[in-house]
Amino acid sequence: MAAESVSTAPGKVILFGEHFVVHGARAVLCAIDRRVSVTARMMDLPVLSVRSGFGSADYPLDAAPGSVDTWVRPFRHMVGRVNLGDSGVLISIDSNIPSGAGLGSSSACCVAAAGSVMGLDGPRSRGSLLDMAVASERTAYPDSSGADCTVSAYGGVMEYRAGTFRRQDTFPEMTLVVANSRMRHSTAEMVAGVGRFRREGPDAFEDLRRRADDISGQALLSMGAGEIKRIGRLASENQVLLEEIGVSNDILRAMIRVADRHSYGSKITGAGGGGCIFAVTDNTNRSATVRALASAGYDTFLVRIDRAGLVSGCPS
Ligand code: PMV
Repeated sequence: MAAESVSTAPGKVILFGEHFVVHGARAVLCAIDRRVSVTARMMDLPVLSVRSGFGSADYPLDAAPGSVDTWVRPFRHMVGRVNLGDSGVLISIDSNIPSGAGLGSSSACCVAAAGSVMGLDGPRSRGSLLDMAVASERTAYPDSSGADCTVSAYGGVMEYRAGTFRRQDTFPEMTLVVANSRMRHSTAEMVAGVGRFRREGPDAFEDLRRRADDISGQALLSMGAGEIKRIGRLASENQVLLEEIGVSNDILRAMIRVADRHSYGSKITGAGGGGCIFAVTDNTNRSATVRALASAGYDTFLVRIDRAGLVSGCPS
């Protein structure tokens, strides 16, 4: 066993198809250049200790799953799957992904933690670390589709549908302008709301779902062709569908109006009801878009697409 192992993994932006992906449509995601770093260190005492910006926890290694705080369960799950003998593990988390903003911070944490904890026991394949991350994440969030962990583990741009994914190898060097509403939202509640919308009008929903799937398909083609303006227009078209299913609100609409003054198009990313929007820009309109959002008082930053995914002792 190694004494210490470190892994880092990126957050994500859902570019197209959120919510509709839950109902079988394609989604397009990308990993972003914001990362969480997780260090796993062997300890003499048989305990699991977790230290992070949002809390600390210490449990005996043999603590029953139900007795462990929800946010610690993924770590307990993976630590239970390495042979530590009489030793314990200290897991230290350091992140520059805003949490609770729909940018995939908890999934990135599961991916990086899988890399570092399993790395104590020697190198593992990226695929097996992804499986460990998804299984661990589901101990805290049983309904997770696994999409966030997948794009975090592999990096780049990805088409995701019904548990299967395909990497999109060609895409333009895009810089997204992201603005955070700082409104907390519950993904589970937003997903449940869309489920009700669907039950109340299945035909109308099916029409929207088909349109969302088509937008994701067109977006993948535009990515391949490097058509940034078209990607922006498709983002705005996708936003119209998100408005229809009720996951937007006045604050997010106001942000999108500001972003659309200069960018090629913008939309919510993730569950909606809060969290972030992103705007598609290039060198000609990026600064103006950032200035407009920042001077309207929104927490605004740039993200680029991360190609590396999980970085640890793991082989590709
Ligand atoms: O806000 P996030 O990053 O949790 O995104 C949720 C995406 C949904 O499509 C709404 C749900 C899902 O499981 O895909």
